[in-house]
Amino acid sequence: AKFTVATLVASTRTGSINRRLAKAIERLSPADLRFVDVPMYDMPHYHGDLEKDRPKSVVDFTRAIADSDAVSIVTPEFNRSIPGVLKNAIDWGSKPFAENIWRDKVVGMTGASPGAIGTAIGQQHLRQVLSILGAFVLPGEVYIGFKSPDMIDTDGNVADPTVEDFLRAYALRFHAFIERMRR
Ligand code: FNR
Repeated sequence: AKFTVATLVASTRTGSINRRLAKAIERLSPADLRFVDVPMYDMPHYHGDLEKDRPKSVVDFTRAIADSDAVSIVTPEFNRSIPGVLKNAIDWGSKPFAENIWRDKVVGMTGASPGAIGTAIGQQHLRQVLSILGAFVLPGEVYIGFKSPDMIDTDGNVADPTVEDFLRAYALRFHAFIERMRR
């Protein structure tokens, strides 16, 4: 593979539809992209006092993002925003500002929800946060309304060919964006 992509899934719930979506994107992406799952749930809440001796979970997280060519964020929408766990991870990565890991980072985002406009508003919040941090975020909106949990199985197989084509188009566009930005 040519590029390493850090995958951030902002849900660890058993049966998470966002985890299924992340698997589908990985399956539909060109072999050029190697996806690495980067955990966020073991980091404590951001606390300035911890800066002098950052917890290992934070050091591991920031290193994984810094070492990746791109980041693929797959997130639920919580109360019209992003889950706190994702915001917390972004906050840790943004400090100290001189070492902000998000600057010039290539990011693709998508998300799933059972609701009709699945994660569109949460993604707008995420875009705003990443924008102030200087990330290159793939333009466009990609969100999936899960009519049923069977829409994508736990291995990332997509039942509906229209949805599969839509996700493949996203994966190809993300790949092209990474190629362009990392040239
Ligand atoms: C939700 N959910 C939700 N859905 C949505 O479309 N818009 C929203 O604003 C919210 N808000 C929200 C808040 C909180 C605290 C929870 C727990 C849930 C529903 C959410 O989309 C649903 O639980 C998904 O299944 C979560 O994704 P995972 O865990 O299945 O990946």
